[in-house]
Amino acid sequence: MSIPRGFIDELVQRADIEEVVGRYVPLTRKGANLWGLCPFHSEKTASFSVSPDKQIYYCFGCGKGGGVLSFLMEMEHLNFVEAVQQLADRLGVEVPEEEDGDREWRRRRERTLELNKKAARFYYEQLSQPQGAAVADYIAQRRISRKFALRFGLGAAPDAWDSLLRAMAGQGYEKAELIEAGLAVAGKNGGVYDKFRNRLMLPVIDLRGNVIGFTSRVMDNSAPKYLNTPETALFRKRSTLYGLNFAKATKRDSLLLVEGNIDVITLHQAGFDNAVATMGTALTEEHIHLLGRYTKQLVLCYDNDAAGLDATQRAIGLLKNTELSVRVLQLPRRRTEGGELVKQDADDFIKYQGAAAFETLLGGSADQTAYRLEVIQNKYDLTADDQRAAFLQETATMLAGLDSPVEREIYGNRAATAAGLSGETMAQEVEKARRSQGRRARRQEERRAMTPADSFQPSQRQLRYQNVRSARAEEGIIRLLLLDSGLFPQAEELQEDEFSSPFLSKLFRLLKERWQAGEAVAIPALSADLSTEEMSRLVQLAQAPETGQQKEKALADYIERVRSEAAKQRSSGYDRLLAVREQKRKKTMEDDVL
Ligand code: UTP
Ligand code: MN
Repeated sequence: MSIPRGFIDELVQRADIEEVVGRYVPLTRKGANLWGLCPFHSEKTASFSVSPDKQIYYCFGCGKGGGVLSFLMEMEHLNFVEAVQQLADRLGVEVPEEEDGDREWRRRRERTLELNKKAARFYYEQLSQPQGAAVADYIAQRRISRKFALRFGLGAAPDAWDSLLRAMAGQGYEKAELIEAGLAVAGKNGGVYDKFRNRLMLPVIDLRGNVIGFTSRVMDNSAPKYLNTPETALFRKRSTLYGLNFAKATKRDSLLLVEGNIDVITLHQAGFDNAVATMGTALTEEHIHLLGRYTKQLVLCYDNDAAGLDATQRAIGLLKNTELSVRVLQLPRRRTEGGELVKQDADDFIKYQGAAAFETLLGGSADQTAYRLEVIQNKYDLTADDQRAAFLQETATMLAGLDSPVEREIYGNRAATAAGLSGETMAQEVEKARRSQGRRARRQEERRAMTPADSFQPSQRQLRYQNVRSARAEEGIIRLLLLDSGLFPQAEELQEDEFSSPFLSKLFRLLKERWQAGEAVAIPALSADLSTEEMSRLVQLAQAPETGQQKEKALADYIERVRSEAAKQRSSGYDRLLAVREQKRKKTMEDDVL
């Protein structure tokens, strides 16, 4: 194929599946996913889901699934190249066709990084010029010291239409390159102007120290308050954490997730060099894996308003089955001089109450069970009897989900005290909830055991598995590697020919190649190499839940099983070979005799 892989990856990153699918299917949000009526089979209730986090779609009714390119292929009946072409047209980018496409692509990437770095330097230099004075004042007003402004590379975009364009033209950059990097925009009447004007500039730096993009803030109350570089292969918001380039070296035993970029800077300045923030977007699984690489403990510190509370609940849900332990730091509201209670974020808190007070909050931040208890508690008026009964029920159901009897007891007692109940009453209620949860789990387990191995087979005939036992483990390996590409080193020695299923073997090879080349290891990136049927099956197998155990351990078990099944296969294959030979020998003897 002559379209460079890097280009396709970039295209897929840039596209937003929610937007593309949304043009054909009305979608409504439920939890982390969007749902709608499947466009590929007829149905009355929505079983078609889109995951903006993973950038995939999947229909639980007909089993079709894939990334943005597969969707266009199925929907518009296009072949792969046509789908790429159409998506590129929609996004207004040109499909490169050079023979040495990939090398050319990498060169352009390098050049964009170089351009970003030069732009950051330009913005920084403006701070000491008259045209940057307003931003310099604003930085001071936000109480960011020179040292930390420099450390985070802050700068000023002058209040002019083309100051960056002109400065970069002087260094040999074309307008088109600035547009591609998201630093300039093309107007309707053909004019090109700077994207960032009259703003405080905050470069976003990745873990290798590259400037991958910018965020920026206005200095007055105009909108939008924050403006970011658009999504590109270099600047992927769903896997970017602002400040992690510094926070990864913290000596503290946790990472602290806050809402805003400026909070990150002021926290670092106040000695909390473990602070990071998403780029104004919700926390994704990719963020979580990234965090997990640097810490075992995550402290959530969202704003103390309704949106912050929602975000906290959502994050806790996402973090439930990970190895990260989670605590929640709740910022108190602040009383103004007029006596009014107002919301405050980490930045405000440090400003008004100081670093020492924040340190105390951090030290006392509740673990997630205590936090969940508190959330339940706040829902009820514990002086009313009927509400206490409901509180008892809900708390018991939550506590019954805890594996440790010690924790069940400690938190049970705590909740009981809060409601003026005895510890025994709570303990009994928790036991009751555990029994009924246990029964439900057993029934599910039985149902699963009763279904024949056949139900595990892909519905796509040509992909059916010969060795279901091995294939299950092979699927597990693929699933884990997609979940966390940090696991690759552990699977690197595994060979594709140890896989029993040709399809799963191919998936393993493709993912491994991508990982080794430092390319995106994600489902939507594989459209180029898989048929739409294969893509659907891949999405389907990636949906299956992983068992709660530790990922490294699960992967080791899967690898072990694939290898032992492969060994069995080899020896039985050898037996078969001997048998065939023996038969042949007999036959020749018979021929001789006759
Ligand atoms: P907030 O509105 O809570 O702002 O947005 P903040 O961080 O407290 O900012 P200051 O203190 O007023 O400067 C929180 C985060 O949400 C994203 C940004 O990443 C911001 O840091 N955001 C906010 C946007 O992306 N766009 C917006 O228009 C507003
Ligand atoms: Mn703020």
